[in-house]
Amino acid sequence: AVDIQSLYSRHGLLAYDPGFRSTASTKSAITFVDGDKGMLLYRGYPIEELAERSDFVEVAYLLMNGELPTPAQRAEFDLLIGQHNLLHEQVLSFYRGFRRDAHPMAVMVGVVGALSAFYHDVMDIRNPEDRSRAAVRLIAKMPMLAAASYTYSMGRPVRYPNNRLDYASNFQQMMFGIPSEEYVPDPVVARALDIIFILHADHEQNASTSTVRLAASSGANPFACIAAGIASLWGPAHGGANEAVLKMLTDIGSVDNIPKAIARAKDKNDPFRLMGFGHRIYKNFDPRSRVIQGQARKVLAHLGKKDPLLEIAVRLEEIALQDEYFIERKLYPNVDFYSGILLRAMGFPMNMFTAVFALARTAGWVSHWLELQQESHGIDRPRQLYVGPTLRHYPAERAPR
Ligand code: ACO
Repeated sequence: AVDIQSLYSRHGLLAYDPGFRSTASTKSAITFVDGDKGMLLYRGYPIEELAERSDFVEVAYLLMNGELPTPAQRAEFDLLIGQHNLLHEQVLSFYRGFRRDAHPMAVMVGVVGALSAFYHDVMDIRNPEDRSRAAVRLIAKMPMLAAASYTYSMGRPVRYPNNRLDYASNFQQMMFGIPSEEYVPDPVVARALDIIFILHADHEQNASTSTVRLAASSGANPFACIAAGIASLWGPAHGGANEAVLKMLTDIGSVDNIPKAIARAKDKNDPFRLMGFGHRIYKNFDPRSRVIQGQARKVLAHLGKKDPLLEIAVRLEEIALQDEYFIERKLYPNVDFYSGILLRAMGFPMNMFTAVFALARTAGWVSHWLELQQESHGIDRPRQLYVGPTLRHYPAERAPR
């Protein structure tokens, strides 16, 4: 029999690191997270400052290029986004192939993947200009792509981008605009949406970004790589968590039921967890959750809406943060704890929450894709620790086929 251990020792040192918790798979100059301090920097700039003073398109430029744009660079970037924000009419026929009740993320995985067929032959990924154009195309097209997956599910006609509107307002008008009527965006809501995009734009080597990089390491088409990222983001442990938070808050139903929910979350025999609490990296406040909570309050007050789920969420946070169980384990609200409440206040249906996240994260994915193209470490190839049977032979008594 083959001795598996000696086989591994012949291949040199092999680190066994399930889930890559302690393995840096790459160097990157894009985003820095200090989980102990609750710090998130894009190209060195704190997320709080960008959320307050920048906008999503500028942040996308920053992530892609490493520096904030000059006014001329910004104008050129806006122009490029305006030139590339339409979907080819043939792409729209892909939507018709889906059932009307298909989840928008399923539709987006398919349609973004299909774009690789539209822009494959015209692109040479060894050419920096072609690479940059592919990245801009993805950022530009994502609002129409995501909005069309929603309007299709509602049986409404697709709306086209309006280049007089900013990026976030344009997405809103394609989502919520009434056919043949001019859409007048609400500036407070549009700004809050833009801030959601900024906060979700990148988060270093998370599952979906690592998926994009792994796919890209083989030289795959960038649209196909981003489709892989969307697939990874869809999971409830990643981008699907804000949907899970709203479901949990709805189930809790009233402030009086919070102690029961906390007790269940602490019970190791109960699989229930406080959704939107805890983070693999942040062992302190997720800096994005504070910004989102502020925006949720602002938008609800502006729209004159009251959401009982916000009251439950705030009280739940207060109680959990005074509880030894959560203090000891350093469990704080993460970005998803309040983002669902904010998106709901803006009128987004629950099944679009992760699609909004995907739209924003595209800025990060393409930036990592661009960064990877400048490296030369070749195709990524994680190893494994084989624990299956050792060498054995096909039973002689089995009749040959
Ligand atoms: N509720 C109750 N207990 C929790 C929670 C929670 N939300 N999160 C972690 N714990 C407990 C665990 O049971 C464990 O307890 P133990 O030490 O007594 O066994 C301890 O805290 C550590 O938990 P881990 O699962 O090891 O922590 P990890 O860092 O691996 O998990 C994760 C992070 C997956 C986010 C987890 O906190 C969780 O499931 N949270 C809820 C889901 C969620 O909000 N996901 C969104 C993440 S953010 C994003 O993707 C954008």
